[in-house]
Amino acid sequence: MPSPPCFVPADAPALPLHPIDTARFPAWREAQPPHWQAWLDAHAFRGEPGSALVLPGVDGTPAAAVAGIGDPQDPASLGHLPLLLPPLAFRLVEGGPLALPADRALLGWGLGAYRFDRYLKTAKPTATLAVDAAAQAEALAVLEASCLVRDLVNTPTEHMGPDELEAEVRALATAHGAGFRCVRGTDLLAQNFPAIHAVGRASHREPRLIELTHGDAALPHLVLVGKGVCFDTGGLDLKPADGMRHMKKDMGGAAHAIALARLVLERALPVRLSLLVPAVENALGPDAYRPGEVIATRPGLAVEIDNTDAEGRVILGDALAYAAEQKPALLMDFATLTGAARIALGPDLPALFANRDALAQAYLEAGTAERDPLWRMPLWRPYLSYLKSGIADLANAGGSRMAGCVTAALYLERFVPEAQDWTHVDVYSWNDADRPGRPAGGEAQGLRAAWGFLKRRFAA
Ligand code: BES
Ligand code: ZN
Ligand code: ZN
Repeated sequence: MPSPPCFVPADAPALPLHPIDTARFPAWREAQPPHWQAWLDAHAFRGEPGSALVLPGVDGTPAAAVAGIGDPQDPASLGHLPLLLPPLAFRLVEGGPLALPADRALLGWGLGAYRFDRYLKTAKPTATLAVDAAAQAEALAVLEASCLVRDLVNTPTEHMGPDELEAEVRALATAHGAGFRCVRGTDLLAQNFPAIHAVGRASHREPRLIELTHGDAALPHLVLVGKGVCFDTGGLDLKPADGMRHMKKDMGGAAHAIALARLVLERALPVRLSLLVPAVENALGPDAYRPGEVIATRPGLAVEIDNTDAEGRVILGDALAYAAEQKPALLMDFATLTGAARIALGPDLPALFANRDALAQAYLEAGTAERDPLWRMPLWRPYLSYLKSGIADLANAGGSRMAGCVTAALYLERFVPEAQDWTHVDVYSWNDADRPGRPAGGEAQGLRAAWGFLKRRFAA
């Protein structure tokens, strides 16, 4: 895999970059030459997280740099450096007072250097980091997967519709000799995916279920499912302008599932893998599904559409039911499912649901270890009463807006048999504003956690 342009080979000429934190800074400063001490003092540099300073040689040209680091285990603690430092090559100094794991450093640097430049005429150069790409194949793969999520989410719907999502999965299948299948349009009805068809039938782009399969049937079966709503207008229950503005990102769950599948394939995790992406546009049109309509679903539950904007759970129901028919060892889904999850936990903490305590525990622990946290929310069954319908088995929404991410997860749970191990992540997939290492726009959230969790569970 070619390294991204923010890296140079390990043996390339590069300036020393000293990582430091506030606790270790005073002692480190004492050990530096007097002109650096004066320079550090003149800039009031104290090693605070998010800070950096170029240190001059005696001729005034850059000779080194020092970087303020918060948590050395957190890739985000390096996120500020690629854009804050001048566009020169740097090499992290090893053996100093603050040890930075090379894999976390690479990841943080790469995430901080990311720019979505598809539509830009000129890309601004970043500072580069000298890395041993061969020794860091795992970290590079995780970085590329995270940037894939960002790219897929950032690409506007016109260039990232169901066709393009299908092409993305097809390319992944081709690259790894995996099986590929896609059920489109009215074939969804013939093959019993009626709910995916209902949600997507108004769009001029055919709704579909995209499927990748790979691996030996003797290995434990892992199924990854991602919500692929390429644009969510809300449907006939139209979103207001503010709420619709960023809905190109409503395929963020699919982006996470695709990126995770890529990691599984690239890093050859010993599993039999299925990737399922129900891909639709929740569009307006004469054929749009309507509030009050009762639609069929794959397992035979009749669902009354209370609100056409609660479309993600409707398409996921068919995909989860299809996945569960195969009785996999583990079923994981990812979805930009509710605004309510953001009200509860804010933009940076994905909501994790699991129907086994041990699954949730292991997932959360992986998130903590990877510095990619999630927070568990309850599958509180009594709230299922909020989704009662007078005329069907279930409604897709209800009058109460209480615990919206919980009721959405409970809806999904109706499509997952009790015996099936299952996790569900309700993810924002977006940064509302630029922060160091976290550029405004599409974001991978809980991806490293999911990958760490899978490695611990399935690695040979
Ligand atoms: N895609 C949205 C959820 C969403 C909105 C995620 C904003 C992230 C940011 C989803 O399809 C939706 O509209 N959900 C509704 C459900 C409601 C109608 C029951 C919501 O959350 O308001
Ligand atoms: Zn919606
Ligand atoms: Zn949606």
